[in-house]
Amino acid sequence: MKNIADTLMKTLLMAVLLMGIFGISNEQHTASAAGKSDIAPNTSKHTLNIAHRGASGYAPENTMAAFDKALEMKADYIEIDVQLSKDGEVVLMHDAMVDRTTDGSGRIDAFTLEELRRLDAGNWFGPQFVGEQIPTLEEVLDAYRGKIGILIEIKNASQHPGIEEKIAGALEERNMDKPNNGKIIVQSFDHGSIARFNALLPNVDTGVLVGYDAEGISDAQLAQFSTYADYVNPNHQMVDADLVSRIHDYGMQIAPYTINDQSRINELMDYGVDGIISDYPDLVGHNSALHYN
Ligand code: G3P
Ligand code: CA
Repeated sequence: MKNIADTLMKTLLMAVLLMGIFGISNEQHTASAAGKSDIAPNTSKHTLNIAHRGASGYAPENTMAAFDKALEMKADYIEIDVQLSKDGEVVLMHDAMVDRTTDGSGRIDAFTLEELRRLDAGNWFGPQFVGEQIPTLEEVLDAYRGKIGILIEIKNASQHPGIEEKIAGALEERNMDKPNNGKIIVQSFDHGSIARFNALLPNVDTGVLVGYDAEGISDAQLAQFSTYADYVNPNHQMVDADLVSRIHDYGMQIAPYTINDQSRINELMDYGVDGIISDYPDLVGHNSALHYN
C-alpha cells in the first residue's frame, strides 16, 4: 500500500513539475512575441537630452533665446552650428547663407562680425524675438559653461580653414580642454575636421555625424571612427538595435539626430542610444545625470 501511495505521489509531483516548466516557458515565449523587439528595454540608463540648435522648436535656432529655453527645459546639452565670419570669428549659423534665419542676404563668411551684429536673427521666427543677434562661440561658452553641456558642430569645415584651431583655442583659454570634462563635444559631417580637432585637443570628446545611407555603416568605418571619435551620431532613420550595439562594441556612444516624434524617441531609447538630438527637449524628458541642476 505504501509503495502504491509513494508511486502515486512521485507521479503527481513529476506532473506538477512538468506543468510548471512548460507553463513558464510558454509565458516567456508569449511575452517575447508580444514585445516590439527582443532587446531589453532601456529603463535605467540616462539618455542625454540634446536641444538641437537650442530648443529650436520654441525659439529661433542658434540664438541665446533658444539656449535659454533649452536650459529652462533642463536639457543636458545644447547643439550649436559654428562657422567663421569674414574676419575669422567663430560665429553661430547653420546655413552657408544668412538669408533664411536673418534679415540679411549673402554668405556668412562675406560678413565681418560687426556686420553680422547688425542683422536680426529672431524676427523670422516670431515678433517676440526681434533683436536676437548672431552669437559668437566665445559668448556661448561664457554664458552657458557649467550650466549645460555644449555640442559644437563644425559646419562646412573645408570652407573655413583653421576653424578647428580657433575652437580649440577658445576652449583652452577657458580651461575647458581637460580630461573627462564631460560637457563639451565637438562633431562634424567632415570627419577629417574631427580627426584634426582630436589631434589638437585629445581630451575633449568628439563625434562623427553620418548622413542617411541605405548601405548603413560598416565595421571598417566604425573601426576608423573609433581612432578619433567618441560618438557616432547618425541620421536617426539609419538607427536600429543592431547599429547601437555595434557602435557600443567599438567603444563609442551614439546620439542620433533629429527626432521630433515621441514614439520614435521612445523606440530609440529602447534601443539603448546614449543621446537624442531634438528640437523639442520636452519630448526627450530629463534627469540629473550631469549634475548641472
Ligand atoms: O547634431 C546633428 C544635426 O544638427 C545635424 O544636422 O543639418 O541640423 O546641422 P543639421
Ligand atoms: Ca547641427
